[in-house]
Amino acid sequence: MKPYLIAPSILSANFAKLGEEVDSVLAAGADIVHFDVMDNHYVPNLTVGPLVCEALRKHGVTADIDVHLMVQPVDDLIKQFADAGASYISFHPEASQHLDRSLQLIIDSGCKPGLVFNPATPLHYLDDTLHKLHHILLMSVNPGFGGQSFIPQSLTKLQKIRTLIDNSGFDIRLEIDGGVKVDNIRAIAEAGADMFVAGSAIFNQPNYSQVIDEMRAELAK
Ligand code: DX5
Ligand code: ZN
Repeated sequence: MKPYLIAPSILSANFAKLGEEVDSVLAAGADIVHFDVMDNHYVPNLTVGPLVCEALRKHGVTADIDVHLMVQPVDDLIKQFADAGASYISFHPEASQHLDRSLQLIIDSGCKPGLVFNPATPLHYLDDTLHKLHHILLMSVNPGFGGQSFIPQSLTKLQKIRTLIDNSGFDIRLEIDGGVKVDNIRAIAEAGADMFVAGSAIFNQPNYSQVIDEMRAELAK
């Protein structure tokens, strides 16, 4: 099992002072910045693009930036995010016209590729892609908004993906995104996740380091 990574989602940060928010959450002990990209087409919400990723790099953010593309089409944005300083790039397989091509574009642009599964997206998209993946992101809410409740069935799906990864022999991170809180993070880790996105649980509290410390304490149990 890989070391646990905590990835605050900037979706719940104060966008009027995003650079400071990212600095604060990294100083509070976060490992990586989760960057949600929504296009008001694949999901019914609209967020930020490569310019904002680039602005964070120019601001001085050196931590990995985990770009989660909730967009359709996918391919045009891959190179743009790679040039803007993305470290990981993931997308939803059903939003891509040519899955292998999109993954290869991410690899060729020097980023780490991931596939994202919604609560009801079938796992067969992993049949011929596992060998190219750096991470798999399981959505434990339907994509589009922060602050939703964790869908309990996600634990079963997480276990299934963990088994697939372990049986494959590939070294793939398993990321969970949606409704992750201090009080459920232990169960989520036990089901197989090793990377935890948390938006509202962290940014809706005044003391980011307290929440992250509490999450790490749960993970260490
Ligand atoms: C939802 C996004 C998530 C979201 C998580 O579509 O992908 O990253 O910000 O927010 P919380 O942790 O509040 O559920
Ligand atoms: Zn996300």
